[in-house]
Amino acid sequence: MPTSTIHLTPNPPHQTLTLDIPAEGVALEGRIQVPGDKSISHRALMLGAISTGETAIKGLLLGEDPRRTAACFQAMGVEITDLEAEWVKVKGVGLGNLQEPVDVLNAGNSGTTLRLMLGLLASQPDCFFTVTGDRSLRSRPMSRVVAPLQQMGAQIWGRHNNSLAPLAIQGRRLNPIHYHSPVASAQVKSCILLAGLMCNGQTTVTEPALSRDHTERMLKAFGANLTVDPESHSVVIAGPAQLQGQTVIVPGDISSAAFWLVAAAITPGSELVIENVGVNPTRTGVLEALAKMEADITLENERLVTGEPVADLRVRHSRLKGCVIDGDLIPRLIDEVPILAVAALFAEGTTLIRDAQELRVKESDRLAVMASQLSRLGAQLTELPDGLEIQGGAALHGAEVDSYTDHRVAMSLAIAALRSTGVTQIQRAEAAAVSYPDFKSTLETICRQ
Ligand code: S3P
Repeated sequence: MPTSTIHLTPNPPHQTLTLDIPAEGVALEGRIQVPGDKSISHRALMLGAISTGETAIKGLLLGEDPRRTAACFQAMGVEITDLEAEWVKVKGVGLGNLQEPVDVLNAGNSGTTLRLMLGLLASQPDCFFTVTGDRSLRSRPMSRVVAPLQQMGAQIWGRHNNSLAPLAIQGRRLNPIHYHSPVASAQVKSCILLAGLMCNGQTTVTEPALSRDHTERMLKAFGANLTVDPESHSVVIAGPAQLQGQTVIVPGDISSAAFWLVAAAITPGSELVIENVGVNPTRTGVLEALAKMEADITLENERLVTGEPVADLRVRHSRLKGCVIDGDLIPRLIDEVPILAVAALFAEGTTLIRDAQELRVKESDRLAVMASQLSRLGAQLTELPDGLEIQGGAALHGAEVDSYTDHRVAMSLAIAALRSTGVTQIQRAEAAAVSYPDFKSTLETICRQ
C-alpha cells in the first residue's frame, strides 16, 4: 500500500515542507499535546519582568516570538533563567525600573512583543528606546497603539507619521485616559493597560467587541487593581500599581490545537485527543465555528489552571456543513481564520467569513494569501474585502505553495496538503517555528497510513 511521506528540506535561507499523500489518503490518530499558549507566554514574561520578586513559568512556548520578548526584557536588565528549563524564572525589576537598553530592541516577527512592550516603554520615565522588527512587522500598523499612547502624552517617532517601526521612544510619565478603541484588539487594549500601570489615576479601555482577556486575568493575579465591565467591553486599571511576581502555568495554545482539530475533523477515520488546551471563552470562537459546521469535538477534564480554563479536546472525523462566521465571533477566532478556511473546503455547501478585515494586517495579508495559495491546490474560493467565500466539497491536488513567511499560513497549508493527493511543497515553511517549532514532528506522529 502506498504510504505518505513528509519531509523538510533546507533550501537556504529557507525550508521547504514536502507532503506526498497517496490517493487513499491518511488518517490521524493519537493523544498529543500542543506547545504553550503564545499570548499567555508573552504576558507571563512581561508581567514577571515588571513585578517585584520572582515569577516562575511552566509550559512557556519556546517559539521564536516569546524568545524575542525574553531577549528584549533581558536587554533592559531583567534576569530570565534558561528558557528550556521546566520552570523558567523571571527576576522582576519592579515597575518603572527597566534599564535603558544600549541597542535596538528587536521584536522579530512578533506584533504582540512590539505592541505590548510599547505601553511599558512609553511610560518608563527618563529612558530612551529604539524598537524594530522583521520585514513583516515593519510593515504592520503601529498607529493603533502609538495614537492612544500619544493621547496619554507619549513621545514616539517613526516612519509614516510615526506609524511604522523602527520607532524611537522617549519614555516619560503618562496621563490616564479613557480610550474607545476602533478595533477589537487585545494588543491595543493590553498596550494601554500596561501604560496605565504607571499613571496616577484610572485608565479605561473600551473596545467594540470582546478580544482575548489574558492581560486582564494576569494583571489581576499579579495584584493590579483592575475592573472589567463585560456589558460595555470596558476595562479600568487604577495606577500606580504594585505588581508581585507569581506562578504561571501556561496551557496549550488553542490556536495551535486548531490545526489538529481541523485536520482530524476533515480526514475520514481520524480521532485525536489534544490534552491540556486553554479554553478561555475569549479564545474558543474556533470551537463555536466548528460546532456550527457540525464537527464532532468534545471537551473533557475541564479545569482552571492559574486563572485560565483548560480542557482536553477530543475530535473525530465527521461530515462538515458550510456556515457563516462573522460579527463578534471574529475577534474570538481571529488567528484561526486560515485553518477554518481549510475546514470549509471540506464542508458541504458554502462558508462565508465576513468582518475579518483585520486579517489583512497580520503577519501577512491572510485573506489574500490564503485565497491565492489554496487556489493553487484546486480550491474554489473568493477573496472578499473583509473575508472569504469558500465552496465546500473540494478535491484538492498537490502543488507548490508559499507561506509568505506567515506561521499560521504555513501550517494551514500543511493541513490542506494532507487532504490533497500527490505532492505539495510548502516554501518558507520554517515560519511555523514562530509559534509551533515541533509542528512537523507532531504531524508525523499522528499520521496513520
Ligand atoms: C494577540 C492578539 C491578536 C492576535 C495575535 C495575538 C495577543 O492580535 O491576532 O496573534 O496576544 O494579544 P490583535 O490584538 O491585533 O487582534
